Amino acid sequence: MKRRHFLKAAGPSLAGLIALPALSSTKTEFLPEFPPVGDDVDPRDEAFWSIVRDHFPLTRDRVYLNTGGLGASPHVSIQALKAKIDELEAISETGHDGQLWQTIKTHAGHILGCAAEEVAYTRNTTEGVNIVCNGLHLQRNDEIITSTHEHVGNIIAWLVRQKREGIVMKTFEPSMRSAQENIDRIEKLITKKTKALSISHVTTATGQVLPVKEIGELARAHNLWYFIDGAQSAGMMPLNVHEIGCHAYATSGHKWLVGPKGTGLLYVQKEMLDSIDAKWVGAYSNDGNLDLTTGEVHLNPTAQRYEYGTVSVPQFVGLGAAMHFLLRIGMNNIWRRVHAMGAALADGLGDLGAEVLSPGHPDEHSAMITFRLKNLDKDQLQAFLSEKHNLRTRGIYEGGLNGIRISLHIYNSFEDVEKVLAGVKAAKNL
Ligand SMILES: Cc1ncc(COP(=O)(O)O)c(C=O)c1O
Repeated sequence: MKRRHFLKAAGPSLAGLIALPALSSTKTEFLPEFPPVGDDVDPRDEAFWSIVRDHFPLTRDRVYLNTGGLGASPHVSIQALKAKIDELEAISETGHDGQLWQTIKTHAGHILGCAAEEVAYTRNTTEGVNIVCNGLHLQRNDEIITSTHEHVGNIIAWLVRQKREGIVMKTFEPSMRSAQENIDRIEKLITKKTKALSISHVTTATGQVLPVKEIGELARAHNLWYFIDGAQSAGMMPLNVHEIGCHAYATSGHKWLVGPKGTGLLYVQKEMLDSIDAKWVGAYSNDGNLDLTTGEVHLNPTAQRYEYGTVSVPQFVGLGAAMHFLLRIGMNNIWRRVHAMGAALADGLGDLGAEVLSPGHPDEHSAMITFRLKNLDKDQLQAFLSEKHNLRTRGIYEGGLNGIRISLHIYNSFEDVEKVLAGVKAAKNL
């Protein structure tokens, strides 16, 4: 779709989102309906993408390239969050509202490709990892397979359970050569004791897109429990957890989903809810009668069973607005744009003679590209790019890579890619 169509179709609403009037309802006014823009926005249509950029208050004084760490939020999300705080503080209420909860989960379901009932709110990906890791029925010597490129958020819970209960963690080194090689490496580790797989969809170390669907087939063939850390994928690319065939998928609201900080989503397949015990429970985890004298208690039949007690409703209202914003731009449009920027960056880095650590195949690289230089270690290079070129990057120690990771989201541009390349060129000549 061309820019004028976007302006026509979405302009009044996307642009209008910045100037929304007082958002004062617990209903759904914070999610005004406006027509989708279509699925064919040109990734190189700078006029279109600069309109999207205008929706973010993110400073233009430096180039922000660390969405993998933390995403910047659009005005619409920030305003929805603030308005909800104002509304609730004026009456000192929590704002818990079943209809509102459901509406936001419907957006989450569109992002993840699942039913609203399969989504639980969390504070971050790490909380989702902990719910799954500690809720799974595992015994001493049961084996779990993961990769050497995981973020600590998907490592520590498993290691602590290993130490406490004697489960056994086994790792494979992700191959950059082919998707099949990764499937083979996982398969080689499977024994009679293997019970679960816990891998990232997009790795934090190199932005590698692992072949999660094919790994799902492997998991099914061996009757393994299949968990995916989706911290780096939700909000970056179109997703369908049902098609992937995983049993649970955790993500953060505050990275690629550009929502408020301290929000997350956990998908648990409906049929598998009873295979992950809800260990932390309280108000909202239950459903139906509750009786201390008879011992009667029923867990909520949906993934809501993993939520408990008072939470910050404004945070999730802000997340709902952020997800709605992304969905209206269109996840296919977003993915093509950020993927194209990733490809341009990887090509440019290769031309400069930098060592690109991310996979080269278009199906396997994402909008996060990791590279290193021979003459500078990651800390020196990160400091140089920050101090001399005003670039906010992330050093990568994971997997012993000693690289720099560049994340490119919808508030970034091909111009930003050029700025990175200029910085790297200067660094190389130091
Ligand atoms: C793959 C992966 N998993 C988990 C996390 C942890 O995210 P959070 O701090 O939101 O729990 C990160 C953060 O960068 C990550 O990259």
